[in-house]
Amino acid sequence: MSKKDFIFPIRNDLVIDYYTVEDMSEQLKVWAFELVKTNMHDMYSKSNDGWDEEQKKKEMRVPEMRYLIARAASDPQDLKGFLSFQILHEETMDDDIMAQAAYCFELQLIPSARSQGLGEFLMQILERVGNYWKMDKIMLTVFKANKGGFRFYTEKLGFTLDEISPGACLSALRARRFDYEILSKLCNNN
Ligand SMILES: CC(C)(COP(=O)(O)OP(=O)(O)OC[C@H]1O[C@@H](n2cnc3c(N)ncnc32)[C@H](O)[C@@H]1OP(=O)(O)O)[C@@H](O)C(=O)NCCC(=O)NCCS
Repeated sequence: MSKKDFIFPIRNDLVIDYYTVEDMSEQLKVWAFELVKTNMHDMYSKSNDGWDEEQKKKEMRVPEMRYLIARAASDPQDLKGFLSFQILHEETMDDDIMAQAAYCFELQLIPSARSQGLGEFLMQILERVGNYWKMDKIMLTVFKANKGGFRFYTEKLGFTLDEISPGACLSALRARRFDYEILSKLCNNN
């Protein structure tokens, strides 16, 4: 995938740029991290693992991470939000089988860019990536406490609990100890 292939016009005033971590300026990396912090700090702080700033920075900068960054068409500095993902081999409930997944690590928009279909559009691009590369599925992790995010993925985008998600593979009693679920959607790679 070259950067050129992933510049999408979505509305007259917005475009999506594709970046590897290597392509991103330090300023862009800092912006992405600060947006995650602003949007998610409270939720992480209340989670079992807490908010670990260094760990999150490290995760966001691994060379395999890819970014789809939404910005105003007229101004490259006017950033609206981003989706980050990796192509991964994930466990399945069958010890002998690994699934190939386009795994969404972050989907984060600034407040003024929400509820206009941008989140859905970014996820649709990830689905196109998954289909193009003949992945088995699109996956992501979501905090149970993120009720809005949960509804967005399940009710709006049609994601369901993955077979390895605590709520799908553990008893209700054991699943309750986990504060997240793993959601997935099959790719259309027939
Ligand atoms: C979750 C998020 C990415 C959704 O993107 P978006 O562009 O706002 O979503 P869309 O416009 O495509 O779809 C909006 C619909 O999804 C659902 N939805 C999205 N966010 C919601 C929320 N916080 N509460 C309730 N419903 C929500 C609703 O059905 C909503 O419809 P409405 O706008 O008519 O109420 C965005 O709100 C966001 O960045 N939130 C903060 C960060 C976050 O929680 N990210 C997900 C982490 S896993």
